[in-house]
Amino acid sequence: MFKPELFKGHRILVTGGGTGLGREIAARLLSLGATVCICGRRESVLLDTARELMEQHGGTVQTVVLDLRDADAVDRCISELWESGPLTGLVNNAAGNFVSRTEDLSPGGFDAIANTVLHGTFYVTQAVGKRWIAQQLKGTVLSIVTTWVRTGSPYVVPSAMSKAGIDAMTKSLATEWGCYGIRLNAIAPGIFPTPGATARLRPGDNPHDLEIRENPMRRLGHMDELGNLAAFLMAEGCAWLSGETIAIDGAYNLARGSYFTQYADWSDEQWVAARSRIKARSEQEKSLRTVPSPAAKP
Ligand code: HXC
Repeated sequence: MFKPELFKGHRILVTGGGTGLGREIAARLLSLGATVCICGRRESVLLDTARELMEQHGGTVQTVVLDLRDADAVDRCISELWESGPLTGLVNNAAGNFVSRTEDLSPGGFDAIANTVLHGTFYVTQAVGKRWIAQQLKGTVLSIVTTWVRTGSPYVVPSAMSKAGIDAMTKSLATEWGCYGIRLNAIAPGIFPTPGATARLRPGDNPHDLEIRENPMRRLGHMDELGNLAAFLMAEGCAWLSGETIAIDGAYNLARGSYFTQYADWSDEQWVAARSRIKARSEQEKSLRTVPSPAAKP
């Protein structure tokens, strides 16, 4: 579908590139010749991913440990990356999410999502964009949002609000920064199952059955389809495409609108069970973290 060395000479940062969708997008860009930088909070996960991707595709994968909720740390990290040459592209993929009844959320629960998704994405985009502008370099930003930016979504309100903010950032900066040759687009993926998202968003049994039945194409997404769309949007061949959010979901959002409406039938007991399953997953991941969360700093 693409020229083998489409991204030769490109250097692209993928936030949250150690796992999930970010890893898949990083792999696709690497396989097309880009040098890829991946950042995240768990060094061991980043190093394993970098090694595996380079074994599979060759090329270079650099790793940076970063909690993008910390604006100073983001600026330091981008500055260090810039010392070995400018980035040419940024993929805003890092996110956090869990399903919860909104009335059960604490301010800390809201902040855990909004600080990562909304604030963190802004910090990274601004840190990269201002360097491109100062050095008169062109650049491309791709953000991973959700179809909830169109419909809103019950039970993931902090994520829906934050992703809608990224959608607004994409449109706003496409206009503001277009004169510098900087373009921004977003992908709104349907369900491309990953262990992290499945554990936090579908903590019941048979997590995807209903959504497969309700999808017009009767299936979930294939990772290579997501990687191909990401590569297309990052490529210079569509340099006039900017400010767009493109859904890739087999038309689920057109047919059904928002996700998670089935949780309206959940009992208190089901919500308690869901929360403890989500917590178990988060604790398992936290044990591998090498960057303290901002709240945990002295
Ligand atoms: C209610 C919860 C909760 C739950 C956590 N909290 N889980 N509240 N229901 N299930 C609350 C806690 O009580 C706490 O509030 C606050 O959230 C912070 O919790 P921590 O675990 O201390 O936070 P932290 O270590 O910062 O972890 C952030 C996280 C975690 C988002 C909660 O899950 C994480 O790191 N996730 C990253 C990976 C991820 O989420 N992947 C799925 C992405 S899917 P108090 O008040 O006690 O302080 C996605 C969807 C997009 O993004 C889909 C793309 C198509």
